[in-house]
Amino acid sequence: MLDPYEQAVSELLVKFRNVKEEHRRKNLYSPIETVSGRVKTISSILEKMQKKAISFEQLEEEVEDIAGIRIICQFMEDIEKVASLISRRTDMEVRSRKDYLANQKRSGYRALHLIVLYVVQTISGPKKLQVEIQIRTMAMNFWATTEHSLQYKYKGSIPSHVVEKLTRASDAIELLDEEMSQVRAEIMDAQIDSQIEISLVKDILRSIENLYRLDNKREVVKIQNEFYRIFSQHNLEELDRFHKQLDIIAEGSRAQSVERMLDNDKG
Ligand code: GTP
Ligand code: MG
Repeated sequence: MLDPYEQAVSELLVKFRNVKEEHRRKNLYSPIETVSGRVKTISSILEKMQKKAISFEQLEEEVEDIAGIRIICQFMEDIEKVASLISRRTDMEVRSRKDYLANQKRSGYRALHLIVLYVVQTISGPKKLQVEIQIRTMAMNFWATTEHSLQYKYKGSIPSHVVEKLTRASDAIELLDEEMSQVRAEIMDAQIDSQIEISLVKDILRSIENLYRLDNKREVVKIQNEFYRIFSQHNLEELDRFHKQLDIIAEGSRAQSVERMLDNDKG
């Protein structure tokens, strides 16, 4: 019974890691930082069935987290980005949403949970199953992991003085996430700069390549060395200035080569 869930988890790990990878390849900031997943153990499934009086017939419907995916983001704002990215996908369907950000749990737990329907293709045909996707920031994850260890240690009944500390820690985590949001804009600026740099460098290299076809090689080597020098400074303004100069040179050498061509025709 658990095999399709194993399959779903491993497929979804690949898919969400690819979302991160695709952002990286395009030099875009990824709202996904890390992805992990697991299939619930038999013993913890049985425990939940007993606790909530769920029969075997109801199991797959009632236990929504047999397959679980956890997506960790750097910033609070990324959580909604990931959620909307998921809702736009055609290979999964959002069935329900639990917003423990707007409505923090009494414990202090914060995250966004989506239950999605996902189809796996098995040798006996397609099977649609539920997957719980938990989306949290790194800070929220830090808190939840620690609190979970304490739940485990105290078998579910954490002493009140520890609960108090956890509540304070949860408030601190919320503040931390808010502070980090202020820094997020800086990262976005850096991302735009790096995209501008990439496209300038691409243009410049194309121009230099063209010059090699038209111009005196020794002159072009000089231009190329000048480019290396400027490139190593990683200064966008300098790079832009060089780009414009190169345009003028390229224009001039194109004009010359047209003249040469016309002269040759005459000759
Ligand atoms: P469960 O029986 O725990 O699955 O509760 P539920 O079916 O009502 O769903 P809920 O959305 O409350 O919790 C789903 C999952 O979120 C849990 O299995 C945990 O992984 C996580 N979670 C929810 N509440 C807490 C909490 O207070 N602390 C921690 N550490 N994790 C939590
Ligand atoms: Mg659960």
